[in-house]
Amino acid sequence: MDMIPLFHNKHIVLGVCGGIAAYKTADLASKLTQAGALVDCILTESATKFIGPVTFAAVTGRAALTDADLWRTDAHVPHVQLGESADLTIIAPATANTLAKLAHGQADNMLSVVALAARCPIILVPAMDGGMWSNAATQANVETLRQRGFNVCGPAMGRMASGLVGAGRMEEPADILGFARVVLGKRSAFSGQKIVVTAGGTHEAIDPVRFIGNRSSGKQGFAIAQAAIDRGADVTLIVGASALPTPFGVTRINVESAQQMCEAVLAASREADALVMAAAVADFQAASQADQKIKKTKDTVDLEVKLVRTPDILQAVKEQREKTSGPRVTIGFAAETQNLLANATSKLHSKGLDLIIANDVSASDAGFAVDTNRVTLLDAGGGVEPLPIMSKAQVAEHVLNRLAALLK
Ligand code: CTP
Repeated sequence: MDMIPLFHNKHIVLGVCGGIAAYKTADLASKLTQAGALVDCILTESATKFIGPVTFAAVTGRAALTDADLWRTDAHVPHVQLGESADLTIIAPATANTLAKLAHGQADNMLSVVALAARCPIILVPAMDGGMWSNAATQANVETLRQRGFNVCGPAMGRMASGLVGAGRMEEPADILGFARVVLGKRSAFSGQKIVVTAGGTHEAIDPVRFIGNRSSGKQGFAIAQAAIDRGADVTLIVGASALPTPFGVTRINVESAQQMCEAVLAASREADALVMAAAVADFQAASQADQKIKKTKDTVDLEVKLVRTPDILQAVKEQREKTSGPRVTIGFAAETQNLLANATSKLHSKGLDLIIANDVSASDAGFAVDTNRVTLLDAGGGVEPLPIMSKAQVAEHVLNRLAALLK
């Protein structure tokens, strides 16, 4: 897993309570550590019946604490300091018992003491079996905690350890990580900014079962949406064809054709601070769509499909910007197989962009469907910034750094 700038050197307290899902928390601890965080795990007495502190120490590279550490004498109340200095606290699984303790301000074990002393945001990831989640006492405790500003992630619906099916499963580590990005990101520079991102390719229908599409996977656009969430933005992601999961906290709008994407982009970007057009929009659509599936006969040897232009979305946005003020900043992409910089510069000016990200989609390590990209950033002031090959997540960070400057 890539390092995530948002987590780099952040102090995270990861509380683990006694539930069968505790084994999955080791994976979460590992993911947070790989993302760059300094993760201090605290296990309750009952958590240690399911999984040992050694596992957490091994994946985080830091001591994992248990209740025995509450009575250590080697430091000045170490647990209080831990709670006070953390950037984020996550309790996963949060059992009904720990939720009850937190709701009532009890502090009778290492984890509840640290949680009570914490000044950072706290994420609770409930997990419990049977009717414990729906029990009125648990629901009332969770409601109290929500009102006090605790962030509650889940629980998910599904099969629980007892075989019962319902709400009570712990959210998966990848989803908890996504949730943590939203909570931690809220304190960052883009807080309150509305950013619209497009991703994936459009599909232009020929008949009810066929379409013209392209090789775009949506990876670069999704990476930009995730990076904007990490910086606290309010993100709308308009997606053509892409099988990628929606980053936590993103408002996703699915569209199919260039025409539909155009309508969605104009509506969403009217009041937005920025639009980033990473989608691979088809330039041509079938002049007419057959109502029924086009059939071949014995004598059919060729088939002509007449194509006509689709709307140029960025041109339409340019016209909208001239009439209204939104979006304040527009960023486009240029997918080229030749004359990269000349073609990108001409698109930058003709589409009225503030910045264009030029990429050579014929290279095997850049462009469509791969995880890496090699791009050059060209701005309206004539600046040219070539970037080395890097992950699409890193490209997204560069783009957002430039966007931050443009929004100032
Ligand atoms: N784009 C758009 N509407 C279209 C086609 C493209 O808004 N109908 C946007 C893309 O999302 C991208 C930028 O315009 O941000 C450039 O897209 P690209 O496919 O590189 O260029 P085109 O404008 O389609 O020009 P050409 O196909 O001639 O290279």
